[in-house]
Amino acid sequence: RQYRRAITLRDLREAARRRLPRMVFDFVDGGAEDEFTVGENRRAFSDITFRPRVLVDVGSRPQAVTVLGRRLETPVILGPTGLARMVGRAGEVAAAVAAERSGTVSVVSSGSSVSFEDVARSVTSPQWFQLYPWGDRGTIQALISRARDCGFGAMVVTVDVPVVGAREKDLRNGLTVPPQVNPRTGWDVLSHPRWLAELLTGPKVTFANFTGLMPEQRSTSGLAAATAGLLNPGHTWADLEWMIAAWGGPVLLKGVMTGEDARRAVEVGCQGVAVSNHGGRQADSLPAALDVLPEIVAEVGDEVDVVLDGGVRRGGDVVKALALGARACLVGRPWLYGLAAGGQAGVGRVLEILREEIDRTLALIGQPGVAGLDESAIRVRPGHGR
Ligand code: FNR
Repeated sequence: RQYRRAITLRDLREAARRRLPRMVFDFVDGGAEDEFTVGENRRAFSDITFRPRVLVDVGSRPQAVTVLGRRLETPVILGPTGLARMVGRAGEVAAAVAAERSGTVSVVSSGSSVSFEDVARSVTSPQWFQLYPWGDRGTIQALISRARDCGFGAMVVTVDVPVVGAREKDLRNGLTVPPQVNPRTGWDVLSHPRWLAELLTGPKVTFANFTGLMPEQRSTSGLAAATAGLLNPGHTWADLEWMIAAWGGPVLLKGVMTGEDARRAVEVGCQGVAVSNHGGRQADSLPAALDVLPEIVAEVGDEVDVVLDGGVRRGGDVVKALALGARACLVGRPWLYGLAAGGQAGVGRVLEILREEIDRTLALIGQPGVAGLDESAIRVRPGHGR
């Protein structure tokens, strides 16, 4: 299987590119508008290099961290990505099982293609869930209650999707939810028969937590049309306070890109913030998440857990983010590449590669574990994007 030969996440991305129809690969890999922010997320990591120390005893290099009170054996969390069954039949179950086996956690999207209940049943450790505040308070309350019944350990509220970003590749490719075989997508789909067989023999790829609430889609229109009836661009901090109270457990606010909003998140009772530009899939012309991390760590890093996502493709990237004050990183696209390349084992391979790269990087830069990482471990290239 292709995933076994993968040495890097880049190899898994290439395997995914071969396995998936173009419209699905682009849905995963692409971003909004000109994909400026997608590029920035990567560029920011390459503007940071290490300050290696020598003759440090690096015989032991623990990489466990604690995020929202939960011990993670490695500082990598599988981030929420909707519709994972479009990429591989196991969908979000693959992330939960792979995370559990690696001693970490996955965040199940409220836009998941496997229901909260089915994901929770597939593992013994509590996963986290992500809330899109879609619909009215009745809809949100119902989703939160189901999440509580599933035993999820934390709620991740994503606040950077008041409307769906312009993923122009999806529009050009004729991507629909569920994906369709029609004159526009036919050749793309038929030339990937293994993927098509999974699609045709598995349950319908749709938003499993919103059955009956989504408009049935017939035309060739994208994600925006699929979610049109549910998005609620009117939410404010007062609504977030209500959601936090309705949940009653730990909350991580995802999509924070300024110190002011991080401060506000702490004031309303969040235990953590995820510095994220949604992997460059929402507003374009946002800075890299890594570039705004220091601003947010300076504002709230002593009070709550700050995590980061966007562009993490190497264990060394995780080490850089931790040196700048993040507790852990989330990865989005990488686990979907792994899922495409090798199902649940492919997702496991993603976590294994990152764990090994973190471990090796720590040794090579003279850091005996992640606990001691700080800005003295890195150099920032002059003229970087901050
Ligand atoms: C996402 N992301 C996302 N975020 C979220 O809070 N809820 C969701 O349902 C989704 N869905 C989703 C689908 C797909 C296909 C992708 C690629 C991403 C964003 C995700 O959680 C994360 O912020 C980014 O993916 C991080 O960037 P990288 O790791 O993909 O570069």
